[in-house]
Amino acid sequence: MEDIEALKNSIILAISETTSPDGLEELRVFELGKSGRITNMMKSLGNMREIERKIAGKELNILKQSVSGAIEKKKQSLLESKINEKLELERIDVTLPPRAQTIGKIHPISQTIDEVVSIFGEMGFSVAEGPDIEEDWYNFTALNIPPDHPARQEHDTFYLEAKSKGERMVLRTHTSPVQVRTMESSSPPIRIIVPGRTYRCDHDSTHSPMFHQVEGLVVDESTNMSHLKGCLIEFCRAFFSIEDLPVRFRPSYFPFTEPSAEVDIGCSITEGTLKIGHGDKWMEILGSGMVNPRVLENCGIDSKKYQGFAFGMGIERISMLKYGIPDLRTFYDSDIRWMRHYGFRCLDVPTMVGKAAR
Ligand code: DAH
Repeated sequence: MEDIEALKNSIILAISETTSPDGLEELRVFELGKSGRITNMMKSLGNMREIERKIAGKELNILKQSVSGAIEKKKQSLLESKINEKLELERIDVTLPPRAQTIGKIHPISQTIDEVVSIFGEMGFSVAEGPDIEEDWYNFTALNIPPDHPARQEHDTFYLEAKSKGERMVLRTHTSPVQVRTMESSSPPIRIIVPGRTYRCDHDSTHSPMFHQVEGLVVDESTNMSHLKGCLIEFCRAFFSIEDLPVRFRPSYFPFTEPSAEVDIGCSITEGTLKIGHGDKWMEILGSGMVNPRVLENCGIDSKKYQGFAFGMGIERISMLKYGIPDLRTFYDSDIRWMRHYGFRCLDVPTMVGKAAR
């Protein structure tokens, strides 16, 4: 009996010390195989006297069961550690940065929109949006461009097929309709920025039928022309990261603002290369003005109590100027080589307020 107990302990120890499935199988054959040690001991029971056989048989059965149980358990644990080892080997650290050659790039239009939103965001503007397919009222009439107004001709509008009552929807020719939508649906103070797609039936090296604009609108009880000027000068300097960038306001005309001004920034051209900053030339970059009281009234806002300013600019234009992209059409070519060259790393955070404005 003691012998069997000692044997059991030694086998269990051997099992626990086994480190491979092959070693474990060898051990199993050695003890429990056809001519294994325990098997042989069981065979020898036949030679015993009945009374001894009964006792020894019981003990051997228990031994056999414990040994095969221990082997099975060990088998499972070896299998588990093999899986764990494999998992450990194949472990992927998803927090690691991607390899440089497989990184996608942010399109300059998205980057520029992010930058513009970020700068105006710091000034307290929030982002508003509107539909690309617009009603005539929002795109024109409410903005003080009635059907017979000459400004309509300048817009090269894409019209959709007439509805039953004869009115035709348009692809919005500017982001200004979102001014109207916002004034209709909320009350002052309003301070919004509207990046979005716009459409005009025009296609050459400097025009694309689809392009992007950013609109801005501020309405409250006291905002005046000096706020317009301060805000836009600050924006231009922050966007181009030039602290003393010359900014000029030139009288102009837009039906939806009165007075209106176009904004130019200083630049120079040396040997065909344009440089933004101090120079002997000016470059127009946006349109602006004090919101025409008629527009306020069209949107249900009391023009005796409220006033404000608005502005609009082309995203592609300011992007080309800032990043030296020479041809507008390349923005939409989906050329991977162009993206690798002009695109931005996805983890680049847009310049908040550039050094210039700090
Ligand atoms: N909507 C004008 C355009 O597409 C740009 C513009 C000019 C927007 C003056 C404005 C503004 O809000 O005040 O040419």
